[in-house]
Amino acid sequence: MSIGVGIIGTGNISRAHAKGYQQSGQARIVAVCDIDLARAQTAAAEWGVDRVFTDYRDLLALPEIEAVSVCTWNQAHCAPTVAALQAGKHVLVEKPMAATTAEAWQMVLAARQTDRIMMVDMKWRFMPELLAGRLAVAEGRLGQVYFAEALGWQHRGIPGGSFIRQDTAGGGALMDNGVYTLDAVLFMLGHPKPLTVSGSARAHMGTRPGGSWRPEDFTVEDFGTAYVRLEGGITLFFAHAWAIDFSDQWQMRLAGTHGSFEIYPFSSPKLRMTVGGYGDLQEVTPPLVEGSMEVPYAVGKFVEAVITGAPSPVPGDTFLYTNVIFDGLYESSQTGAEVAVRLPG
Ligand SMILES: NC(=O)c1ccc[n+]([C@@H]2O[C@H](COP(=O)([O-])OP(=O)(O)OC[C@H]3O[C@@H](n4cnc5c(N)ncnc54)[C@H](O)[C@@H]3O)[C@@H](O)[C@H]2O)c1
Repeated sequence: MSIGVGIIGTGNISRAHAKGYQQSGQARIVAVCDIDLARAQTAAAEWGVDRVFTDYRDLLALPEIEAVSVCTWNQAHCAPTVAALQAGKHVLVEKPMAATTAEAWQMVLAARQTDRIMMVDMKWRFMPELLAGRLAVAEGRLGQVYFAEALGWQHRGIPGGSFIRQDTAGGGALMDNGVYTLDAVLFMLGHPKPLTVSGSARAHMGTRPGGSWRPEDFTVEDFGTAYVRLEGGITLFFAHAWAIDFSDQWQMRLAGTHGSFEIYPFSSPKLRMTVGGYGDLQEVTPPLVEGSMEVPYAVGKFVEAVITGAPSPVPGDTFLYTNVIFDGLYESSQTGAEVAVRLPG
């Protein structure tokens, strides 16, 4: 069986989606769309596609399309996703899910109402170490987990392009790359509800000269920190910087009453787990399932779900917890006070 797919937004990441569809052996790219016609034409030529559009509504009108990838910038995730679901298509939407919680919630409601799959392309959800962490928490191997840390320090990682503008990206370092570690710890914890957020989001580097972008175009944060209270008495420290004068370090760590779980996705060793009590703590090696943290692998999971009718591998109703935290963090940054947050619905 082979499904017809459309790709909306033909920038950088769309290449990894195309690769995933091609590698799956169960999908064919039928049409592409970008508001920038030249970009859409280049992608179409690369992938051997002859239907090219600049308005996603024209692409969605094609009956041979069963599923779409939404690879537009963050501020343009919601509208094509909702329109695609309403046109009866399944959707794989890029991370972060949306620019705001209100938009993320519209997307969740559209998926529920249309009974279509909406999957967020959070490629880390298929990282073997992350899956092992989630299992360890669910089995109670860490005891009662009381603290989580989601950190990403990039030394020189300001991406430029559509990522540094509020009107296209909707947020900076936190939403772009912070979303990986934030979603990862929430996933491992089994999605406890966020209750309050106290945070700060600032631009310290992007607004100065020295990079390949124009500082006057830089309208998002390049650095942010937050203290988040989660249900169950868990506290979470979350921070991300696109550029800070530390060495590169990303980490997701959980501490419990009977052990801990640490993931360093770009270091070796990648994983450290301990179990035991105050006096008999020992390092253990959890079994790892097969997986990958690459986009084509996640695309393969989407195709599989569409074909088998399985539930969304990365559903929006819990992924939007990240948006709830971002909204609270940005508000807290502006007011200088802790913000009480609530999940929509
Ligand atoms: N999962 C990953 O590993 C990963 C990596 C990079 C980027 N991303 C995400 O993918 C998205 C796109 O990133 P990118 O690097 O490809 O950005 P990009 O700026 O290279 O491409 C975005 C494209 O979307 C097009 N576009 C914008 N609005 C549109 C609309 N309404 N209809 C059709 N096309 C539209 C733009 O013209 C542009 O070509 C972002 O949300 C980003 O966070 C994910």
